[in-house]
Amino acid sequence: MQTVRSRVLLGLLLIGFYLTLLPFVVHGVGMIGIGLSAAAAQQSHLFADGQPVGNLAMVLHICAGTVLVALVPLQLLKGVRRTFTGFHRQLGRVLVALALFTGLAGMTYIPLRGTIGGSVMSAAFFLYGLCLFTAALMVARMALNKDRAGHWAWGLRLFWLALGSWLYRVHYTIWYLLTGGLGSEPDFSGPFDLVQNFAFYVPYLMAVQLWITRKQRAHTGALPTRP
Ligand code: HEM
Repeated sequence: MQTVRSRVLLGLLLIGFYLTLLPFVVHGVGMIGIGLSAAAAQQSHLFADGQPVGNLAMVLHICAGTVLVALVPLQLLKGVRRTFTGFHRQLGRVLVALALFTGLAGMTYIPLRGTIGGSVMSAAFFLYGLCLFTAALMVARMALNKDRAGHWAWGLRLFWLALGSWLYRVHYTIWYLLTGGLGSEPDFSGPFDLVQNFAFYVPYLMAVQLWITRKQRAHTGALPTRP
């Protein structure tokens, strides 16, 4: 009974996730189209005339990032992981490659073009890219070393980091629905914007860390006490 209920809940969560992801994917595909068009710079601030490296980095970034967000929830499904081990491994390789690519392309773009929100946003997003890149490398390393605990912990971090871009939009959507955009400015200089530069990944990483520590303690028994 419990399993049926949790499966239904998981199914609803997935449906909710993909429904909210849809507008984001449509936007991403639209931006790729703009990026590949001859008049890209006239249509979006993300692209500039005479900046082929930055423009290409952004197009590749959006391509890889969008596929990454769409696929990453599948990797955490216990049923899929246990029944289709081969699929889990293949998808894992694809996700690691996509995460490395997304992070690298973003970190190439930032020093070349900056971000719409200025230096704080650039620093925060660069750090986000670094976290995603590191987590992807560590997941792969732990899998190669057959370190199951390490692979699980880095996999969880990578999962939440991969969802970061979607969470960023979810935070903004909820905030605008609740407050009409209080503390948010078109140039992303408002107090809400400044907090959001970090709030879409730092608190999630901290929560994941607490969860990992709790699970590890439960697994290894009580912490050693003082003699
Ligand atoms: C994880 C999946 C990710 C997806 C799906 C994604 C997707 C996107 C999309 C669709 C845009 C265009 C936004 C617009 O139209 O204004 C964008 C912009 C951008 N992304 Fe990502 N991204 C992801 C991860 C990252 C990471 C890890 C970094 C950090 C290196 C990053 C850095 C940036 C930057 C700097 C911009 C330009 C911001 C601006 O100045 O407007 N993204 N991304």
